[in-house]
Amino acid sequence: MNDTTRGKFITLEGIDGAGKSSHVAWIVDFLRARGKTIVSTREPGGTPLGEKLRESLLSEAMHAETETLLMFAARREHIAQRIYPALERGDWVVCDRFSDASHAYQGGGKMLDRRRLSVLEQWVHGEGSSQPCEPDLTLLFDVPCEVARQRIALAGRHLDRFEQEEAQFHDRVRHAYLDRAQKFPGRFRVLDGEASLDAVRAQLEKILVDFGA
Ligand code: TYD
Repeated sequence: MNDTTRGKFITLEGIDGAGKSSHVAWIVDFLRARGKTIVSTREPGGTPLGEKLRESLLSEAMHAETETLLMFAARREHIAQRIYPALERGDWVVCDRFSDASHAYQGGGKMLDRRRLSVLEQWVHGEGSSQPCEPDLTLLFDVPCEVARQRIALAGRHLDRFEQEEAQFHDRVRHAYLDRAQKFPGRFRVLDGEASLDAVRAQLEKILVDFGA
């Protein structure tokens, strides 16, 4: 998928409590105001089957490998049903989490073998095919784990299975994300999630305009 009519694929990432969710709607509105047709979606989820899998993934205890396989199964369906067709139509896709989350949470947090994750990723993204499904831009909202933990505690809502993990888990997730950003500097932009909402929006606006929005 590299012809000029193909849409752009933007993913949002960060540890729980990094503030990513506060920015999704703003990003979508900003891109729409600049004339883009947007498909806004999320993982795990994004399709009827994916949303059913999400419910189990966020609440039911399971083996870490089962969890990984279900994340990628939901992703395969998501790419086939929504992401790929949207990009083919020329729409832009804004996705709240994608495969980098599996590298960060299942690879970093749960310490699963990175090579296995790469095999699943290549399979599910269709690497090696003429039109693999890779993000064009990944916005990583980065905050120290302690700040994220305090924000989640302040919100006072029910915690899902991942949010209930110990502090070291979230620290490993954060560092796995930062490692990914270093490994793929072409598509990653790291945002300071501790900055004020306005300051983050100013950073986002510049990144999106530079990206061609
Ligand atoms: P999240 O997107 O943060 O939803 P909300 O904003 O409603 O809390 O929650 C999804 C959780 O799933 C998050 O804790 C990270 C986890 N996750 C993985 O562990 N691996 C993955 O591949 C994906 C996509 C998500």
